[in-house]
Amino acid sequence: MKNFAVILAGGIGQRMGESLPKQFIKLSGCPIIILTIRRILSVLEFDKIIIVIHPDWKQYLQNQIEEYQISTEKIIIISGGKERLDSIKNSLKQIMLISNSPDDIVVICDAVRPFVSKEILQNSIKMSRSHGACVCALPAIDTMLYVENNIITSVPLRKNIFHGQAPDSFQVSILNEALNSLTEDEKKIITGTAQICVLKHIPVYTIPGDIKNIKITTPDDIKIAENILQMGENK
Ligand code: CTP
Repeated sequence: MKNFAVILAGGIGQRMGESLPKQFIKLSGCPIIILTIRRILSVLEFDKIIIVIHPDWKQYLQNQIEEYQISTEKIIIISGGKERLDSIKNSLKQIMLISNSPDDIVVICDAVRPFVSKEILQNSIKMSRSHGACVCALPAIDTMLYVENNIITSVPLRKNIFHGQAPDSFQVSILNEALNSLTEDEKKIITGTAQICVLKHIPVYTIPGDIKNIKITTPDDIKIAENILQMGENK
């Protein structure tokens, strides 16, 4: 039984507002995607790591991998799709070519979460192996409001509210079946990978998230990420 990691890097980071896709922006001198790759490579349980990249940036990524002396033995680079969901589909297609058991595991990570911990990655493998599907989730701290037309319509019980963080992890066969059965309407509302299974009523278990496991989206996140690095938290 194999464990696959997917690193989604097929986006171009529009909200960051830079010409360079955000996954290549440097934090303390090192590109975000290289920090993420190193974290994932440190988990020896992964047999293969599939990096999904926009075709225009494939060569750039290959150059960075060489420059930062990343071992390429486990790495497969493939092209992403228009939407994040298309990139996930492309990664699954690649995995189906090399997977040899329905119980193989896939842990789907974002290239722009460079502080994903080894503990989260290992828990993701263990939980998806034992329970089929899991996502890393962080309990809400603020009171969460359900707002429609600028008016609060309900206040959900905070103890039941979590922030969903990547990675999202699955038995390959479960994710593949759920992905293939999505309707066009379902595809339009998906904002997170675990939602693919939730929509198909497949139980997705949670594992503890980490406040440092931020997704870098806007220029402010770069400042926060630099602070996390300076606090020495990038272990
Ligand atoms: N992603 C992907 N393929 C896409 C779109 C996004 O693999 N077609 C990846 C991004 O590269 C990123 C992760 O999914 O690592 C999280 O997505 P997001 O933060 O939305 O990244 P971008 O799409 O690059 O950002 P933006 O929405 O601001 O353009």
